[in-house]
Amino acid sequence: MPDMSALSDRLRERGQKIAFVPTMGALHEGHLALLTAAREYADQVVVSIFVNPIQFAPGEDFERYPRDLNGDKKKLKPFEPLILFCPSAAAMFPGDFKTRIEVEEISQKLCGKFRLGHFKGVATVVAKLFNIVKPHFALFGEKDYQQLLVIKQLVRDLNLGIKIIACPTVREYDGLALSSRNRNLSAPERKAATVLYRALTRAKKEIEGGETDTRRILLSLGRLIGFEPTVRVEYIAIVDPETLREVKDIKGKVLVALAARLGKTRLIDNLLITP
Ligand code: PAF
Repeated sequence: MPDMSALSDRLRERGQKIAFVPTMGALHEGHLALLTAAREYADQVVVSIFVNPIQFAPGEDFERYPRDLNGDKKKLKPFEPLILFCPSAAAMFPGDFKTRIEVEEISQKLCGKFRLGHFKGVATVVAKLFNIVKPHFALFGEKDYQQLLVIKQLVRDLNLGIKIIACPTVREYDGLALSSRNRNLSAPERKAATVLYRALTRAKKEIEGGETDTRRILLSLGRLIGFEPTVRVEYIAIVDPETLREVKDIKGKVLVALAARLGKTRLIDNLLITP
């Protein structure tokens, strides 16, 4: 860790721009798209792989979270030269670590209602990674839309001086948003999971078709997902894309966001829709 920090200092002294892609590994095309974009912004790209224990509540899937460092290293080869930073849990969170960063309001909405302490864990680890890597730019995927807003707020509030770049969600051929957790789906779960994107596209069609009553849209999406009995919806919400506050009557751009469980796997997805 002192090495990563010192390396960043040297790069900055030489006037080099650093773009940073923080990940938890089990890399997929979504991560690789972030790395491709990162190269456009900076002279040096740093990617971190760290499965952050403090963003998982007890009973969540920290142990089951996919880990594949050797596979990840192969996927990173075409991006060389690239700095890979894989800190240990002991180095990141030694026994006497006591700090937590809370980004209020935005963290309490949507996933925050179901994953207690999750965004505190995300904000804390991201702030720590930012302090070590000292990037000029950091890139995040829009699939984790709420996380993106939390990090933007964190950067603004603490004057971190890092430009946050949002990159579009990358999807499978059938619309399923790429996620490291997709590896944990069984074949029938993988098939059923396609209903999530179908629900989002139905919302898009209804909103673009002039429907403004979110209650009616949500009922329609609930019915569609109901045809897949293995999919247990945690939430589906139509919210303001800046504040994540619920919208009743659609007048402008909205975010349709959802979370669902398939067996032991929790998936999230969202779509920004302009009426
Ligand atoms: O999106 C992720 O993979 C993680 O939440 C992040 C941003 C790397 C923090 O652990």
